[in-house]
Amino acid sequence: MSSIDTNVLFRPLTIKSLTLKNRIVMAPMTRTFSPGGVPTPANAAYYQRRAAGQVGLILSEGTVVDRPASRNDPNIPFFHGEAALAGWKGVIDAVHGAGGRMGPQLWHTGAARYSEWEPEAPVESPSGLDAPGAARGVAMSDSAIADTIAAFAKAAADAKRLGFDTVEIHGAHGYLIDQFFWSGTNLRTDQYGGATIRQRSRFAREIVAAVRKAVGPDFPIILRVSQWKQQDLSVRLAETPAAMTDWLLPLVEAGVDVLHCSQRRFWEPEFPEIDGENGLNCAGWAKKLTGATTISVGSVGLDGDVLNAFSGKGSGIMSLDRLIERMARDEFDLIAVGRALISDPNWTAKIQSNNYESLKGFDAASLAELV
Ligand SMILES: Cc1cc2nc3c(=O)[nH]c(=O)nc-3n(C[C@H](O)[C@H](O)[C@H](O)COP(=O)(O)O)c2cc1C
Repeated sequence: MSSIDTNVLFRPLTIKSLTLKNRIVMAPMTRTFSPGGVPTPANAAYYQRRAAGQVGLILSEGTVVDRPASRNDPNIPFFHGEAALAGWKGVIDAVHGAGGRMGPQLWHTGAARYSEWEPEAPVESPSGLDAPGAARGVAMSDSAIADTIAAFAKAAADAKRLGFDTVEIHGAHGYLIDQFFWSGTNLRTDQYGGATIRQRSRFAREIVAAVRKAVGPDFPIILRVSQWKQQDLSVRLAETPAAMTDWLLPLVEAGVDVLHCSQRRFWEPEFPEIDGENGLNCAGWAKKLTGATTISVGSVGLDGDVLNAFSGKGSGIMSLDRLIERMARDEFDLIAVGRALISDPNWTAKIQSNNYESLKGFDAASLAELV
């Protein structure tokens, strides 16, 4: 790897009020180390180590908005309530103290499961389904929808008030917002459902518009989306660029500045039937079709994808050549790095100083602690 020129990864980027020193983003990763939903000094120190290790933008683990059943594990942090917000204030102050920039990933898990744990209130989703044909919890009423939109806006306003630099809305991976996007889990016949992706993205658009109103015009809003669902990896919300435009452009018009397109392997083309096996990836197409800034992600620097991590497997090191090539073409603007940064807070600094010999890859044992 020593011959490659990683400079393209270390160009600054300004998005409204946020200036990033480089193009490396820490991907949002749930760690379940917040007992009672409150982030601790150990969480602050964990994120601070990544800031000190030169990550350009840190996205927090998913942290849930104020709804009775917005999380699917008791150690997932809240982004509401005095104690949790005080914990988050400790996190952002620690990150800023080390020269980092950070946004919380605002989340509602909908009907998606993590473990056997059940929240006290019934889980909520567009049509009371976790996956097509798999009933779980209740379908949301109009007032539940309105309260959820308001909860996202309140969380974003709190993020800005605490000093965070941006927010990311989690609209991916088969959780609540994505359950609205997906025809398999959104069977509604009201204005939040419908045959087209544009109709089913109304809930997300209303969240984005409410968040924009809460944070003002200059604060960057990121939205994470994915074609795939944890319930079914083969799902594609948009089979064509036209459908992708119908899905994402109205969200950008509603206030999204940055689309974070989640893939398991960043080099996989989104529509190879159009531009071939080396064609644009999801973030590349999203940028081309909407003009938004985009973040790509998926197996950066690693030889196995994220599903390995969930079955307890590590991954070895892989060359960054393909990433550099795509970044040099400005196919997307930023690249998120997940597991490599779980095992090694100094991954970014090592890449910047061409210190490849000391890269560690991903060791699944590091999931059991905050390295
Ligand atoms: C332990 C773990 C927890 C994750 N939690 C989240 C999460 O809370 N929100 C989210 O959007 N993605 C989550 N992801 C997915 C990552 O953000 C990222 O997209 C994925 O790991 C692929 O990047 P990588 O191949 O560099 O690890 C998680 C991944 C891992 C390994």
